Amino acid sequence: MKIIKAKDYYDMSRKAANIISAQIIMKPNCVLGLATGSTPIGAYKQLVEWYNKGDLDFSEVTTVNLDEYKGLPREDPQSYYYFMNDNLFSKVNIDTSRTFLPDGMEADSETACHKYNAIIHSLGGVDLQLLGLGHNGHIGFNEPGIAFETETHCVTLSERTIKANMRFFLSEEHVPRQAYTMGIKTIMSAHKILVVVSGEDKAEILREAFFGPVTPQIPASILQLHPDVTVVADQQALSRCTDLEF
Ligand code: GLP
Repeated sequence: MKIIKAKDYYDMSRKAANIISAQIIMKPNCVLGLATGSTPIGAYKQLVEWYNKGDLDFSEVTTVNLDEYKGLPREDPQSYYYFMNDNLFSKVNIDTSRTFLPDGMEADSETACHKYNAIIHSLGGVDLQLLGLGHNGHIGFNEPGIAFETETHCVTLSERTIKANMRFFLSEEHVPRQAYTMGIKTIMSAHKILVVVSGEDKAEILREAFFGPVTPQIPASILQLHPDVTVVADQQALSRCTDLEF
């Protein structure tokens, strides 16, 4: 695991965007695994800026997102489809028929997950998977306790995650209780993984996840066993790791 120190959120975003753009330049028809949440927004912004300058071309890129809320239509501003469209897809020359997210409007969980797994398998794997880190160590929507060998599945969100995500909704009752998410097995099968972490509120979990024991109680801790993980974190997120060598 490689940890790259960034000065602040802006620096973290630029460094992460650099890694993503290197992937696109090295393999123009790559498969990118994408993430939502507030942490990757700055990296998407940077990628859009480089695209506008003519330095990046998304025309052959395929994307698969980590997760989607169950029950939210694509037009809902809180859906992850909307988020991706708003922050990236509508701003670059990506072919939207090659941008995939789980279908939040498929009421039958088994069908939704089966279809999404089939899409991921048909793409032949993810070249670079971008991840944020939840306060309880979740990645995608894989909450503490999740079995490491799962593929795409339906999850019931923990109280903590509902509370953390309610800032995007009118009130807590509006936050969906369930979501479809790639499983840990799916995430771990990506060739490369890039994790972005920012802010003091993530400092404790960053240390536990990447320097503590590997345990399903902290889903992100499994990443320690992946052969090619880069974590880009700002100083605040690394503030509880100052005694460690890396
Ligand atoms: C959500 C997403 C995760 C994301 C996490 C952290 O729960 N499903 O993929 O990593 O939030 O979000 P943030 O970056 O806003 O802290």
